[in-house]
Amino acid sequence: MLKNLKHEILETNVGVLLVGTMIAISIGGLVEIAPLFLIKDTVENVDGVRPYTPLELRGRDIYVREGCYLCHSQMIRPFRDEQLRYGHYSLAAESKYDHPFQWGSKRTGPDLARVGGKYSNEWHVQHLTAPRSVVPESVMPNYPWLLTTPLDYSDVEDRMRALRTTGVPYSTSQEEYQKNVKAFGEATAKMLDISHAQQNLIAQAESGNYDGDRSSISEMDALVAYLQVLGTMVDFSKIKPEDLVKYR
Ligand code: HEC
Repeated sequence: MLKNLKHEILETNVGVLLVGTMIAISIGGLVEIAPLFLIKDTVENVDGVRPYTPLELRGRDIYVREGCYLCHSQMIRPFRDEQLRYGHYSLAAESKYDHPFQWGSKRTGPDLARVGGKYSNEWHVQHLTAPRSVVPESVMPNYPWLLTTPLDYSDVEDRMRALRTTGVPYSTSQEEYQKNVKAFGEATAKMLDISHAQQNLIAQAESGNYDGDRSSISEMDALVAYLQVLGTMVDFSKIKPEDLVKYR
């Protein structure tokens, strides 16, 4: 029967073409949608991965606002060349608290999934203010306003609450706090407590001194805090390659 099904029949018969198109779209749709129902089983927990602190979270929002993702991806693929250049390939768990994720596919600049700790805070401040002053051939835009714009953190609790609805474990009750202590340890659990978000943000900015000026908190403080944590949560020196097979 299939032998007689000439392409001409499809092309000259709108009804058949329509049904054929629907079948093709349905299969494509299923392939994309079905895995979403299994996401809880497919993204395994990996030790060390935690939600962002309030300051890092504001930095992430600035990263998104400034469109850094238009030139930078945050996903190291499991190919030899990528691992030699950027480090260990990205694990699904490493972006499980990212909503929306910043994987991207456009690389005008390098991948940033493991840029944390690669440079000093001072380097980042200099580079973001005037990229060509440190990398003469760079085509990255200047972002001088980050250093002079005070960070607005008045709504950081709301931002955390919004992420909570997507499943990020920022805590609002004592019970959730205790759960976080178990999962991430006490220091991190404190950072994930929404009721102390502003206090924690200020404390981290002051002690981290990301923009080199302790007298005020700038957008640069937040963005550098974010960049410095990228890819540093999982300690790969403690993980044997065999352990990771199950995460693939
Ligand atoms: C027009 C494209 C473009 C945009 C937009 C862009 N960058 Fe870049 N970025 C680059 C290029 C190209 C490089 C490589 C040359 C250099 O180091 O400046 C780079 C390098 C970097 C590096 C150093 C990476 C490494 O491993 O050496 C960091 C960090 C960085 N960018 C952060 C950012 C942040 C944060 C933003 C948003 C505020 C941003 N970039 C926006 C193009 C871009």
